Amino acid sequence: MIKELYTAQQMELRDRARDLAETVMRPVAALHDVEQTYPWEVQKAIKAAGLSGVWIPKEYGGLGGGVLDLCIVVEEFSRACGGMGVGYAVNALGSFPIIISGTAEQKQRWLPAIAAGDALIAFGLSEKESGSDAGSMTTRAEKDGDGWVLNGEKKWNTGGAVASLNTIFAVTQPGRGARGISAFLVEKDTPGYRVGKHEDKLGIRCVPVVEIHLQNCRVPEANLLGGAEGHGFKHAMITLDRARPGVAAQAVGLAQGALDLALQYTHERKQFGQSVSSFQGIQWMLADMASQTEAARALVHYAARVIDAGAKQITKLSAMCKLVATDVAMKVTTDAVQLFGGYGYCKDFPAEKYMRDAKITQIYEGTNQIQRLVIARSLLREAAGATD
Ligand code: CAA
Repeated sequence: MIKELYTAQQMELRDRARDLAETVMRPVAALHDVEQTYPWEVQKAIKAAGLSGVWIPKEYGGLGGGVLDLCIVVEEFSRACGGMGVGYAVNALGSFPIIISGTAEQKQRWLPAIAAGDALIAFGLSEKESGSDAGSMTTRAEKDGDGWVLNGEKKWNTGGAVASLNTIFAVTQPGRGARGISAFLVEKDTPGYRVGKHEDKLGIRCVPVVEIHLQNCRVPEANLLGGAEGHGFKHAMITLDRARPGVAAQAVGLAQGALDLALQYTHERKQFGQSVSSFQGIQWMLADMASQTEAARALVHYAARVIDAGAKQITKLSAMCKLVATDVAMKVTTDAVQLFGGYGYCKDFPAEKYMRDAKITQIYEGTNQIQRLVIARSLLREAAGATD
């Protein structure tokens, strides 16, 4: 980050996040990766550093930051550990629906605890048979007196096992497609709400990705997001528009972290009597890795600035930055493994963890195939003279 391009507060935020990442996250990243354990000590440190609610408005106890501020923090965390980066960012994904569409009462009820780091929140959109086709979900919410009864199963719920609140999307008006979906805020101790299978994952292993089972799970009317039915799908899409740069920032952090390792290792590693970094072929690889990472960061920060400026058309840029940055992360982390040679393929060095952590960024919050579809649809609409 070039300090002249950012506010003093943003640079301070970056430094605070970097310090926490280096002193608290990096030392325990390998351990939590191997054991697949949630880093509660990291969660406590984030809370103590006052970084839990960077994106939450000040009136609800947050720092009142925008998507760019969120991206700055997520990149620093992910540079040390991709799992810890997403473990943090998923709270923005889960709480954006409340910030964007919640009633005043819902904001007052839930945001302060998230901002203070006393509550974690997840985002329950996907199901076993409803991934890219998010509108085809079957989880059902039926009106029952002064509340709603939810039945169904959510899948790929990142952070769901540790979250005290989950934004759950469910069909309230069958047959209406996307317009029949509504969103509910469901607290973890609600009878009928149960955390199911924990996935055994390739990467981001410190953050639990789980199934959520809903069996006659009754929530009051006050938990219907925005107090109105039928807006859930749009709420989810608007949320993803704001959250995808966070995944992109996670990817930039992973690329930067892998590049840092590669620069150090190729300098120290001697072959043919000299540092391997003295060979031109290696230098070209390092130059490409650094250039691609910088280009990805520039696009992510540009997209975040456009969103923070309140622009109306953000869908395309949000998808573009996610697409570009996550593909860069996959390439750069794979190149880092290559530069480590045989050591890169082994767990003695953290290079392989960056590659494993990077893979999911091309998949979650919409696969990169879906990002291309979203981008193409926007392009074609623009070409036809319409606006987003
Ligand atoms: N903003 C506002 N409204 C939007 C919108 C947006 N970005 N995108 C779509 N909509 C609206 C449309 O205007 C339309 O509204 P009307 O009914 O009023 O016309 C409605 O939503 C339906 O839109 P589409 O017809 O375009 O919907 P579709 O069924 O063709 O699907 C899709 C579009 C882009 C493929 C969408 O389903 C999608 O984004 N899929 C990927 C889902 C995804 O990202 N899942 C990841 C979940 S989170 C996760 O990964 C787990 C985790 O815990 C991290």
